[in-house]
Amino acid sequence: MADSPSNPARRRFLTGAATAVGAVGVGFAAVPFLSSFQPSAKAQAAGAPVDVNIGKLAPGQMTTVAWRGKPVYLVHRTERMLETLTEVTDKLRDPDSSVSSQQPAFATNLYRARPSHERFLVIVGLCTHLGCAPTYRPEVAPDDLGDEWKGGFFCPCHGSKFDLSGRVYKGVPAPTNLEVPQYVYVSEQILRVGGTEEDVA
Ligand code: FES
Repeated sequence: MADSPSNPARRRFLTGAATAVGAVGVGFAAVPFLSSFQPSAKAQAAGAPVDVNIGKLAPGQMTTVAWRGKPVYLVHRTERMLETLTEVTDKLRDPDSSVSSQQPAFATNLYRARPSHERFLVIVGLCTHLGCAPTYRPEVAPDDLGDEWKGGFFCPCHGSKFDLSGRVYKGVPAPTNLEVPQYVYVSEQILRVGGTEEDVA
């Protein structure tokens, strides 16, 4: 039966879900200032937007928040990280973000981010293969990922790779780019995951 706990695919998904919850826990622990912006657990479960103070997120750093029961990664990319995005184009399956379900229209660009705030990447931290939590791997050419690795996200379950805009590499199990959720800036410092332009109109 597809839903049986003994089913290998199902087991992998559950393992991934546990990993994702772990990643959220680490995010909260590493960046405690975020906690004051979280709505109640009940409101979060219902899908309430989550405000994040990105003012203290240093260049190169990532933090994680929970939104609608999913981990959402926020990365403050450096200038060099943004430069790598054009250096990996021919290795990517969907470099132009043509699969429209994977990002709001405003993020259909090289940075997969809101124009004028290109440095900040906001993505759902669930692999598009079977839902494990990809790890943030910003280092260049680490031993396990090879000389051509310029930074990005690596899924430990079956080896899918994504660049620093969450775009999937060719030849890996994940079929599509990581999802960019709806979000909006309510000020220069506060980013609202799940928020829309109507929130700031
Ligand atoms: S869940 Fe299979 S590669 Fe990520």
